[in-house]
Amino acid sequence: MGKPLFAGNWKMNKGVAETREFFEKFLPLTKDIDFENREIMIAPPFISLSVASEIVKDSKISLGAQNACWAKKGAFTGEISPVMLKELGVKYVILGHSERRHIFGESNELIAKRVKGVYEEGLIPVLCVGETLEEREKGITFEVVENQLKEGLKEIGNLDGAELVIAYEPVWAIGTGKTATPSQAEEVHSFIRQILGEMYGKNVADVIRILYGGSVKPGNIKELIVQPNIDGVLVGGASLEPESFFEICKVEIS
Ligand code: PGA
Repeated sequence: MGKPLFAGNWKMNKGVAETREFFEKFLPLTKDIDFENREIMIAPPFISLSVASEIVKDSKISLGAQNACWAKKGAFTGEISPVMLKELGVKYVILGHSERRHIFGESNELIAKRVKGVYEEGLIPVLCVGETLEEREKGITFEVVENQLKEGLKEIGNLDGAELVIAYEPVWAIGTGKTATPSQAEEVHSFIRQILGEMYGKNVADVIRILYGGSVKPGNIKELIVQPNIDGVLVGGASLEPESFFEICKVEIS
């Protein structure tokens, strides 16, 4: 099993100045964190990655990006290449986030290309999957998640497991204050592990980290992280304040 991953997804928040302010407060807080048993990642907006990269380079904090193109360079207006991200020391790339799917219309097809491009460049894709409220109420959560997983990963073949992260983020729990109950989350996480096992074999599936995302807060991290198939969290709103993100990151791990 890889180290549990505590990931902050800042979305479209914090330019350069606010990024500096965040780390000025956050880095000193993390000095007592045991990085032997957990990893912390922050994914700022593209424009703030460069300054974040300078700030974290002598720390144990990993950097993530919120999207990436599949191509190394070229005529892709508005896109950022995985090569450019690598140059800044970025390690993870969030792909297929529900806001990309639902607000910007990114399809499974497009996401699969991004996953492949990022993976082939040696960055770690954090592929997000999750059902809408309507889909949950229709009773098709497992079908939706299975389809997003299989479609999103269809361009990558053999894996050893450490180079892929999955984030289960029920759309109805993102930014709404509604968190999936630990048992609702665990049910889907164990289903995801089973599908990954069918795709890559059990040994590989066991080392792929599966994060939970959707209104994770200091008040609910404890009950989520103890679930056997929850290997970390992807945090939006509560990652914007140094203190609240630190409260989440320092949770006891057994
Ligand atoms: P949230 O966002 O923590 O604000 O619900 C999570 C995410 O979208 O990654």
